[in-house]
Amino acid sequence: MVSRKKVFIGAAWPYANGPLHLGHIAGCLLPADIFARYCRLMGYDTLFVSGSDMHGTPIMITADKLGLAPEELAENNHASILKTIEELRISYDLYTKTHTEHHFKVVSEIFLRLLEKGWIDKKRGIAPYCPKCDKFMPDRYIEGTCPYCGSGDARGDQCDNCGKVLDASELQSPRCKICGSFPEFRETEHFYILLSKLEPKVREFIDTRKDEWRTNTRNNTENFLRDGLRDRAITRDMKWGVPIPVQGFDDKRIYVWFEAVCGYLSASMLYSTNVKKPNLWESYWKDPQCRHYYFLGKDNIPFHTIIWPAILIGYEGLNLPYDVPSNEYLQWDGAQFSKSRGHGVTVNDFLSDHPVDPLRFYLSLNMPEKGDSNFDMREFVQKNNTELLGALGNYLHRVVTFIVNNFGEVPHRGQLSEEDVRMITTAETLYKNALSSMEKVRLKEGITTIMSLVNEGNRYFNEQAPWKSIKEDRQRCATVLNVALSVGKIIMYGMYPYIPHAAERWFGMLGTTGPEDNEWSEALAPFKEGMRLSMPSPLFSKMEFETAEEEQTGWKPMDDVEKKEDKEEEKMDNVSFEEFMKLDLRVGTVLSVEEHPNADKLYVLKVDMGEDEPRTLVAGLKRFYTKEEMQGKRIIVVANLKPAKMRGVTSNGMLLAAENEEVVAMLTVDPSRELPPGSKIH
Ligand code: MF3
Ligand code: ZN
Repeated sequence: MVSRKKVFIGAAWPYANGPLHLGHIAGCLLPADIFARYCRLMGYDTLFVSGSDMHGTPIMITADKLGLAPEELAENNHASILKTIEELRISYDLYTKTHTEHHFKVVSEIFLRLLEKGWIDKKRGIAPYCPKCDKFMPDRYIEGTCPYCGSGDARGDQCDNCGKVLDASELQSPRCKICGSFPEFRETEHFYILLSKLEPKVREFIDTRKDEWRTNTRNNTENFLRDGLRDRAITRDMKWGVPIPVQGFDDKRIYVWFEAVCGYLSASMLYSTNVKKPNLWESYWKDPQCRHYYFLGKDNIPFHTIIWPAILIGYEGLNLPYDVPSNEYLQWDGAQFSKSRGHGVTVNDFLSDHPVDPLRFYLSLNMPEKGDSNFDMREFVQKNNTELLGALGNYLHRVVTFIVNNFGEVPHRGQLSEEDVRMITTAETLYKNALSSMEKVRLKEGITTIMSLVNEGNRYFNEQAPWKSIKEDRQRCATVLNVALSVGKIIMYGMYPYIPHAAERWFGMLGTTGPEDNEWSEALAPFKEGMRLSMPSPLFSKMEFETAEEEQTGWKPMDDVEKKEDKEEEKMDNVSFEEFMKLDLRVGTVLSVEEHPNADKLYVLKVDMGEDEPRTLVAGLKRFYTKEEMQGKRIIVVANLKPAKMRGVTSNGMLLAAENEEVVAMLTVDPSRELPPGSKIH
């Protein structure tokens, strides 16, 4: 028997000091979820866990400010995060938290084992103590000048400017972040993880893996290693956190980073208990064939490529990370998300105004895999309207509605033509390519590949024109529709990891189940012929632009658009025959189609209108028609409009098109009649 591939997937544990924002989603939760869904589809034995990081200084400080106990604050946020995770359909096997007896127990066990093996030791050292606040201050609450790059606002744990990890005692002119006083450095006793001793083993591990890691993961790790590893304190003078399992340390807690990463293991164990197979976790953590993937934002890299591996190496017998797909940052409107500056948007807020599929879709296309990316509302709306709805939704909808209207059931496939075979082969190839991108955690590449299949599908459908063959050759029409429907199935299997909700709805409307575990190849099997189909409802809907900023960039705010439309409707109600006759509508033949040099939605057309020279028209049809499709068409043009400049190109007329939520179609004249360009329309 071939054994199934095994995969453990961890997504970085979000701090429970606030709700989730879109940056968390794009950088780690969503990619991890897409990958987990992909793995299950492939039939891999998959365990996917995470939880809320409940401890740490920021939570204590926020709680203080709000007059709450840290536990209360963390629990509230944990509940809100859980809700968001459900709405986003992140398919964790378990999402837990670090503030549980179970987690404490697992951390203690790891701590004691490392202590016993000599990888952890007590040391007396100095720590910043603020005389005014009358307590030891956490490193990150000391600010000062970085000794390496001279930046004035380095923190006691790290300099964000040069990326160096620091010790508060190294800072020049240190001050307390809370009260501004000059801290003293007092002696205190702490446990240290002896990274200097673990270093050779850690390096050995990294050398075996780093060549396959993403550049940012590798560079960041190498940077951290450059000056050699120093022993690090893993306990702190504070009361909120995991207790230290050694007598005499009641006033101290385990450092949040040491215990949080242990959560991957404790969550795996808890999951095993929950499903009543207490030893199940061992098959993921002890079977060396099981690959461990950690999804995270770039600031978390060294904790997952160095510190956590060091702990695991010290512990012995547990699997080390296989891949650590780290993402850069998602920016909001050109700048870093920041809770304190109120910049950005929480996922809860966003989802109260927008459905989940467009969000997952847009973030998947726009993941900060290789560099920072930007969440742009305009682009979000545009991608929804043109790609999700205009290309994907349109394809699925037109195929199924055409079948329902003309056959009522999955039509008989019959004899395939060369084009049909080509379409099916293309679909299979692109689907497999997309899967292999996902296997390599190139998730953006995966979704773009599927979207290119959507375009192929639309092109095939247009070329095969079933609306023609339905009249001339019913079996030919049936064949085309059968093929087009199979392509739709393949598309939605490929899309499933990215937009599972839409995929499930689509298959549900067809009366079948959607992709299930180990079913990737089921995508390639055609639907059962004769299966009854009922009229589908649209999967996606059109969005309008909403902000004033969009107006400046060419998009009208909603209100104005509505007002204008209202006025026009008023006028149109009372339009007289004479007024209607003022419109000079004429037939024009499209001679050539060019992309607009400064706009990615527009075409520049040359249209023969029976005049001395062809007219130039600018039309926003690029998302709906290929150049080839427009070429040669006889269209209807409003010929007596004032010329209008559109992004630098003057348009001498406007072509007419019909549209609903999903489809845009040009008006053309009956192809069975000879009618020269320039003919007037009455
Ligand atoms: N809470 C940390 C952050 O948001 C991530 C912790 S990942 C863990 O940056 F695995 F260590 F928990
Ligand atoms: Zn102070």
